[in-house]
Amino acid sequence: MSVQEYLEKHLLSRKIEEAVNAAVRAKAPDPVLFISTHMRRAAPAVITSVRARQILDGRGEPAVEVALHTNKAVHRASAAAADAPEGAAASSTRDAEKRKLLARAVADAVRVINDKVSEALVGMDPQQQAQIDQAIIDLDKAHHKAEIGMKAMLAVSIAACKAGAAEKEVPLYKHIADLVGKSTSTLPVPAITVINGGTHGGNRLPIQEIMILPVGAKSFEEAMQVGSETYHHLKDIILEKYGSDSCNIGDDGGFTPNISSISEGLDLVIAAIDRAGYNGRIKLAIDVAATDFCIGKKYDLEFKFAEKSRQDFKTADDMIEIYSQLCSEYPLVSIEQPFDKDDWEHSKKFTTLELCQVVGDDLLMSDPERIMRAVNEYTCNALVLKANQVGTVTEAIEVVKQAKDAHWGVMVSHRSGDTDDSFIADLAVGAAAGQIKAGAPCRGECLTKYNQLLRIEEELGSDGVYVGENWRTSAGTS
Ligand code: PGA
Repeated sequence: MSVQEYLEKHLLSRKIEEAVNAAVRAKAPDPVLFISTHMRRAAPAVITSVRARQILDGRGEPAVEVALHTNKAVHRASAAAADAPEGAAASSTRDAEKRKLLARAVADAVRVINDKVSEALVGMDPQQQAQIDQAIIDLDKAHHKAEIGMKAMLAVSIAACKAGAAEKEVPLYKHIADLVGKSTSTLPVPAITVINGGTHGGNRLPIQEIMILPVGAKSFEEAMQVGSETYHHLKDIILEKYGSDSCNIGDDGGFTPNISSISEGLDLVIAAIDRAGYNGRIKLAIDVAATDFCIGKKYDLEFKFAEKSRQDFKTADDMIEIYSQLCSEYPLVSIEQPFDKDDWEHSKKFTTLELCQVVGDDLLMSDPERIMRAVNEYTCNALVLKANQVGTVTEAIEVVKQAKDAHWGVMVSHRSGDTDDSFIADLAVGAAAGQIKAGAPCRGECLTKYNQLLRIEEELGSDGVYVGENWRTSAGTS
């Protein structure tokens, strides 16, 4: 091809002239920069390839990272490696070959992305999130998305979402708000983990987490200040009472003092709030993760005491008594997964008492069908959204809408031992979730989410509203 033919084929003279004219009209102070930006916008972004690799998450376990290439840039995303509970809508992504990394490797998923997924997405416009997600879903007709697996799907979907935001030249949370159909931006109340137990801590506390919700703060920044100060005062109190080895932290960054009862943990947190000077400005939440100590239909609150385990089972009605008592004695406003994942009956019985927010985790598995049943039967009144249990960004947005339409609370959640991807921070703002749960003010994979929210709040300025006391009823989906 001759030079002349090349110029004509790409309409280069005309495009350059248009860019120069635009710079002159705008009286751009830096015309070269203006012209290059103008030219860049004239070429729409298309996906050119998707490359995946195995990385390690916050627990040192394999996770999938994706680099989605467009003709303009590379966008990276990773999805938490924590697995879905048995029976979840989207399944895990572990290699068939079990010899490496304690049978946790994800090389099969990496291969599927590099071959099948990449081929399916090449040429697509990254702004078309729904089409991209549908193309990924269409590749995996297997039951429970078992072929590609949820983590691989989500990593690709998030990378595409980041590319879509970049192409629109808007922040990620704004692009997500557009996908949701929202025009306002709210900063969520953080549910900050301060004590870990259950399967996330090596102590005897049966429940997985005790969290603080700084609902009385005036901004997200102040909420993190309040949360962080309380966390450090708690450390001092634990140190004084139980010794330095009790200040070790669990999987979500909460301390793991060797306490054995929920009230002992709540008393410590109340003392820390008092010492920090934040009485009345912080509410409490717990994640019971009761599926982990439900045996048959009964609950073994001493499942971590070798010498006492399986000797004093509690019935589900006993558990309702325990929770009711805690709600009356403490500023406890949210209880996550108070019963076994299939104990619909007692979850409904407890929710109907209206003592607090009842959050469905394993009960719902972020699965639209289970959510629909729970809405119809009023089995709980809030969703903990774990995007990697759903599969794609579009599906995650759909389940948030489903929960909000039912006037439920929505808590966007990390996974324990998450990766360093901060996507859920933008998701919580874009979808106006009202609540975010990302662990303690400690551990890099937790802080990457909270720190991103600090940046978002700063960027939004007076347009960003911290939901504070309205954490359960934050703005609807539209
Ligand atoms: P998981 O727990 O990621 O281990 O399921 C997270 C949570 O519920 O906080």
